[in-house]
Amino acid sequence: MKNIFSGIQPSGDLTIGNYFGAIKNWIKLQSEYNCFFCIVDLHAITVRQEPKRLREKILETLAIYIASGIDPNKNTLFIQSHVPFHSELSWILNCFTYMGETSRMTQYKEKSLKSGESISVGLFTYPILMAADILLYNTDLVPVGSDQKQHLELARDLAERFNNIYSDTFKIPDPYISSTSSRIMNLQSPDKKMSKSDENENSYIKILDDENIIRKKISRSVTDSIGSINYSDDQLGIKNLINIFSSITGEDTYDIVARFKNKGYGDLKNEVSNLLIDELSTIQKRVKELMDNKDYLEKIYKDGAEKAIEASYRMLRKVKKKIGFI
Ligand code: AMP
Ligand code: TRP
Repeated sequence: MKNIFSGIQPSGDLTIGNYFGAIKNWIKLQSEYNCFFCIVDLHAITVRQEPKRLREKILETLAIYIASGIDPNKNTLFIQSHVPFHSELSWILNCFTYMGETSRMTQYKEKSLKSGESISVGLFTYPILMAADILLYNTDLVPVGSDQKQHLELARDLAERFNNIYSDTFKIPDPYISSTSSRIMNLQSPDKKMSKSDENENSYIKILDDENIIRKKISRSVTDSIGSINYSDDQLGIKNLINIFSSITGEDTYDIVARFKNKGYGDLKNEVSNLLIDELSTIQKRVKELMDNKDYLEKIYKDGAEKAIEASYRMLRKVKKKIGFI
């Protein structure tokens, strides 16, 4: 069986961007692959986290994975900091990465514009840690949203570079990015991606938002003055709602447009709200139950760490040997 690796940062409340862009694809792929789904807490501390909240969000992220339908018996679910090899390989790969490569990363450039001089070095080297995550597990496929494409290219470049300098060591991973859900947009500025770290709460929908909040946020989402429903880059807000619709029902965007032919924006918003509430409410119930059963969650992440260590220690050993460490 081929291997999958993916992860989400427990740096806030997971959004429907995380759900449609990542988790939903994981569910689809889990039966055909040997999957490692990680909660990337080391990545989360690239920006300041409050310890109590971080602890809570790590468990909640695990609960969301399971509640969404990821089977903890079939897949390896674990917390990144429980497997020390990630940090160790990350250091080694740091020494094979050029300054220019990390400086070019869009995510870093955007974040450094916002934070200026006080940006952490961790945010700069963050894609190298992500490469370590992936390369440790002989990963074939990495299901992510399209914002991670550039980071994945770096992982591929580093793997190839290392293999060329020494000999075949790392597998070259491929991205898996779906067409309609790879970039769920900000509800208030539909030219930007939806992000859990946005200051404006109305710009994103959390997986755990309740029915009223979902309706309110969707009804307030920014559209346009064109007045008819089309799947077009001139109507980014409407396009985003159609993408969300399609991510839930699996329907083609073309068919969705046809379905709303003589209808208004209010109808589309109403239907998207209904679909979202329907999709998320069962997950929310399960998350609540799981969060009340911390012993169960602990067992899952402990077993997961053991399996992840077992699956990755050989790779790090091989890397060290090739470099010339004793
Ligand atoms: P992050 O929240 O940055 O840790 O992202 C975790 C996963 O969710 C990655 O695979 C991202 O590409 C994906 N993701 C985050 N935001 C979005 C979005 N707005 N649309 C689609 N995928 C997203
Ligand atoms: N950098 C990813 C994000 O912010 C999260 C991540 C960390 C990841 N390590 C990974 C995703 C490995 C896929 C594979 O979205």
